Amino acid sequence: MTTVNLNPPSHDVGAHAGCATSSHDREFPDVDLLSPLTLRGVTFRNRIVMAPMCMYSATDGFANDFHLVHLGSRAMGGVSLVMVEATAITAQGRISPGDMGIWKDEQIEPLARIARFVESQGAVPGIQLAHAGRKGSCAEPWTGGDSLKTAQEGGWPVIGPSAIPFEEGDPVPTALDEAGIEEIINAWEAAAKRALQAGFKVIEIHSAHGYLLHEFLSPISNQRTDQYGGSLENRMRLLLRVAERLRATIPEQLPLFVRISATDWVEGGWDIEQSIVLSRRLKALGVDLIDVSSAGTTPDAKIPVAKGYQVPFAQRIREEAGIRTGAVGLITEVLHADEIITTGQASMVFLAREFLREPYWALKAEAVLGQEATWPLQYGYVVQRRRK
Ligand SMILES: Cc1cc2nc3c(=O)[nH]c(=O)nc-3n(C[C@H](O)[C@H](O)[C@H](O)COP(=O)(O)O)c2cc1C
Repeated sequence: MTTVNLNPPSHDVGAHAGCATSSHDREFPDVDLLSPLTLRGVTFRNRIVMAPMCMYSATDGFANDFHLVHLGSRAMGGVSLVMVEATAITAQGRISPGDMGIWKDEQIEPLARIARFVESQGAVPGIQLAHAGRKGSCAEPWTGGDSLKTAQEGGWPVIGPSAIPFEEGDPVPTALDEAGIEEIINAWEAAAKRALQAGFKVIEIHSAHGYLLHEFLSPISNQRTDQYGGSLENRMRLLLRVAERLRATIPEQLPLFVRISATDWVEGGWDIEQSIVLSRRLKALGVDLIDVSSAGTTPDAKIPVAKGYQVPFAQRIREEAGIRTGAVGLITEVLHADEIITTGQASMVFLAREFLREPYWALKAEAVLGQEATWPLQYGYVVQRRRK
């Protein structure tokens, strides 16, 4: 079972000296990939997170047996936090018809079944809440991922900060008016309440990859002239309001994460300097960790994809905003992941595709780092015996 104590102080069991700006940090020089971490009242058994990954396999937003096995097997494989894929707060906020959803009460129980199982395996169940904005209404990626432009094709109208499509030929989003913005904030709150009812212990706001909240942050997609566009303060307003509302909704002892794209990788777009300002503001609102990804607002981005290429952003945000970060992106090797933690570049590592290749990666990490692997009870006694 996940440890949830009701004493709220947010501290690291072994915070590295690299995060000296955080008043909650204690310095334990021996912190590594396998060190537990306590945020608010939730203890994570190590620093290894299964990153959110859309599986495009839900029907009408409902989680099913595929999701239980997919997510449950990574919990059995030793990760500390299983983050359920981008889960749409409204039906319109889905990327594809197969996206997971949490816009109605009936969707709670299949998600609760997943949360219960994940927790029974010693991992913390988390869920990423999302709205795809102008990048919604697409076919599943394995069929090409094209826009579904008409209802006959199974598509729906999309919304965004401004009436600017992602790419030429893509559907033009309807720019949200003030009433639409209030509705969206209410939908985030309602979705968070359902997630809590389902038993999730971590909620992550998806504000990355060119989806709705990131669209408001970036001047590329946001050309509004009201209080939600123009200045940095105005472009941050929607995300800050959502974070504030969710922090007020989520119990004090449960952590709130935000995933951002640290940069659009394009001149004149969202960048790391703005991300640092934003992260300071999110910290002040009670956000516990920034999960630092990048890109997604424009097809013109020139991304220098390489091993750990986004890690320096996690490190800068951690050091300059004084908030815990998660590093993600082409982290596949145990020793690399361990180094990210031991050198204080991030508090957690989020792995995505490597968990599709190797669901038991976290158990492998234990062996590589010289620790007895914490196999599930039903496997451990026989696996160990065969080795002798
Ligand atoms: C199949 C797939 C689905 C993804 N779905 C999501 C998602 O739902 N939410 C999200 O924030 N990122 C999503 N991502 C991005 C991953 O979380 C991760 O940031 C990215 O794959 C880089 O990490 P990796 O190199 O370990 O794969 C997805 C990635 C993949 C491969």
